[in-house]
Amino acid sequence: MVSDTDRAALLEGIDADLLQEIHQYEKLLTVSGEKLKSITKHFIDELEKGLSVEGGNIPMIPGWVLDFPTGQETGHFLAIDLGGTNLRVVAVELLGNSKFNTVQHKYSLPDDIRTATSEELWSFIADSLKKFVDERFPNGVNEPLPLGFTFSYPASQNAINEGILQRWTKGYDIDGVEGKNVVPMLQDALAERNIPIDVVALINDTTGTLVASAYADPETKMGLIFGTGCNGAYFERAGSIPKLNGLYADDIDEDGLMAINCEYGAFDNEHFCLPRTKYDVQIDEESPRPDQQSYEKMIAGYYLGELIRLMLLDLYEKGLILKNQDITLLKKSFLFDTSVPAISEVDTSDDLIEIFKMFKELSNIELNLQERKLVKRLSQLVAIRASRLSVCGIAAICQKRGYKTAHCAADGSVYNKYPGFKERAAQGLRDIFEWECDPKDDPIVIVHAEDGSGAGAAIIAALTKNRLAKGLSVGTK
Ligand code: GLC
Repeated sequence: MVSDTDRAALLEGIDADLLQEIHQYEKLLTVSGEKLKSITKHFIDELEKGLSVEGGNIPMIPGWVLDFPTGQETGHFLAIDLGGTNLRVVAVELLGNSKFNTVQHKYSLPDDIRTATSEELWSFIADSLKKFVDERFPNGVNEPLPLGFTFSYPASQNAINEGILQRWTKGYDIDGVEGKNVVPMLQDALAERNIPIDVVALINDTTGTLVASAYADPETKMGLIFGTGCNGAYFERAGSIPKLNGLYADDIDEDGLMAINCEYGAFDNEHFCLPRTKYDVQIDEESPRPDQQSYEKMIAGYYLGELIRLMLLDLYEKGLILKNQDITLLKKSFLFDTSVPAISEVDTSDDLIEIFKMFKELSNIELNLQERKLVKRLSQLVAIRASRLSVCGIAAICQKRGYKTAHCAADGSVYNKYPGFKERAAQGLRDIFEWECDPKDDPIVIVHAEDGSGAGAAIIAALTKNRLAKGLSVGTK
């Protein structure tokens, strides 16, 4: 949090007209405990709606992970994770006793991957896998390597080894993939190169995080990603998923578990309750998929720097800042990634020199001291809003499932790296649940996740192999 004294010291010496604007931003971006509670209430209804036959904004995708891992799963697996900046390839050995070993390599994605062709995307993944397999298995393999594919986009699954991309998120816009099953696309690219890999499971990063963390900690109730995007997964009673009634096979018990990839970045696409500002609206309208991922666009790492940029441009246009500066570079969309607010928040030097250097380097703008203070204050406001809104999804799942205590396993660049995110998120939960205990005794806590897209993908591949070996179903009938 930002104490009143720190805030007062930061705002000292700022001209009255700019100060007034900052007060406006403070009003606009502050989300009270009451508001968090009302958002959570609506969130619960929307989670239910997503599971219903009619459906709603939140996709609530059944992930066909039908078992809670025991920690005793074993075997050798490959896993890949197509992230925002890297393709991560991991060789995983599950050792049982909740233990595993991983060896990994990261391949940098080409800069323009978000708008590449489908052919370029699958070739890049298959070529990277070839390099990895050739290096690790120079003498070849006896049988195809089972691979868990972490594909962190909303993909419908009628079975665990299928993923029909509903739509791209996080700024991706590659033609010819939406509406299609991505597994054969990858499998074909592998076959063309004679790579001995069998894609046995397609996994969302949140589902992988859920399962990897549950393998190591049975108190795990959900898997969460706070990164470039934002999403959560949890285990639902199979019988509480009306849209699956009649679709799953008889060997699936109503009281058994089914992992649900919520895709709750899409919460409130109908703009019923989130406190959107004109900057959130602008980000949405200028994105490749307007009216999608409303919640994510307010809180995820992909958007935080962009929100700051839009606010600065607005103040510039009002004639309040950056007088006599060349703002050509500042006009470039997504010029700032999340490191801009993150670095701004941790700059504690008197003259905020780190902020000055960063802006000079990124935008060739020389901020005066007032402007540096402004950037720091806006960063705090945008990030506090993001971390507080982020926990509404957690609170909603806990209330829906009746969890009074929970370990909520989180991963992602914002959770891992953004200064203060964890404390602010914990405070958001305290405000929603009105706990009066010592914070160290909070009954629902966000904890650091195990490696979802490495170990998690491998465990899911192992669970799938086990079910298939027993002749059990892993998809609709
Ligand atoms: C986006 C994706 C979702 C993913 C999340 C975190 O919301 O749609 O599948 O889990 O980002 O990476």
